[in-house]
Amino acid sequence: IPTHIFSDSDSASKSVAKEIADLIRKNNQASKPTILGLATGSSPKKVYQELIRIHREEGLSFKDVITFNLDEYHPMEPDSIQSYVRFMKEQLFDHIDIPVTNYHLPDGTLALDKIPEFCRDYEAKIERLGGFDYYLLGIGRNGHIGFNEPGSTINSKTRLMTLDIATKIDASPDFGGLQKVPKKAITLGIDSIMKSKKIVLLAWGEHKAASVAKAVEGSVTSDIPASYLQLHPNASFILDETAASMLT
Ligand code: F6R
Repeated sequence: IPTHIFSDSDSASKSVAKEIADLIRKNNQASKPTILGLATGSSPKKVYQELIRIHREEGLSFKDVITFNLDEYHPMEPDSIQSYVRFMKEQLFDHIDIPVTNYHLPDGTLALDKIPEFCRDYEAKIERLGGFDYYLLGIGRNGHIGFNEPGSTINSKTRLMTLDIATKIDASPDFGGLQKVPKKAITLGIDSIMKSKKIVLLAWGEHKAASVAKAVEGSVTSDIPASYLQLHPNASFILDETAASMLT
């Protein structure tokens, strides 16, 4: 996997935002929609801030951008403080001109028996649009992408996933204790992520260094789902120096 190492996450995030903005601009000029895959969490925050700046200061329009997020906890109300719907509105969607009908996230309010159909529809919508032009990912300390936890196969579909203990520990400050972290989440499958034309994974900080090194230099294994990206023809890792510190 090609890696691009920046001195800090600020400059890295600006460079990624510029790449996304250039793609949207090119598609806008050709009157084509841009199909983006998005993540939540701390890693993409500065990319979203920079995209908002480009929208405000350079007039970049998101009217023809269509997005699908990776995941949402289950159960989760969209206006809860920990909801990824709320996160995306606060960090990006409420500050740009994307129509509300153009962004999609898994629905954390669904009854259990409705989830399989929802997941099939989510994937079908993505496929009808021709798949992702660009997928922005983060990586978990356990090597997860989305909430595809260790053990997820390369052809895994969009589904309800039981969260790994490492994921719950990392999320526990947001929920005020490990016991309060939801046990499950709906996640886009590895299969859909791998069909994206381009995949960019962001990782900042020393706590990501080990999973980054395993994903980039280790064997392709379900123990580190991000290692599947080695099999993608157009995936890259954008790192700060600390996240890159365990690469050989
Ligand atoms: C979030 C997601 C997760 C995160 C990962 C890293 O939508 O899919 O895979 O990208 O857990 O989280 P941060 O960026 O908070 O370190």
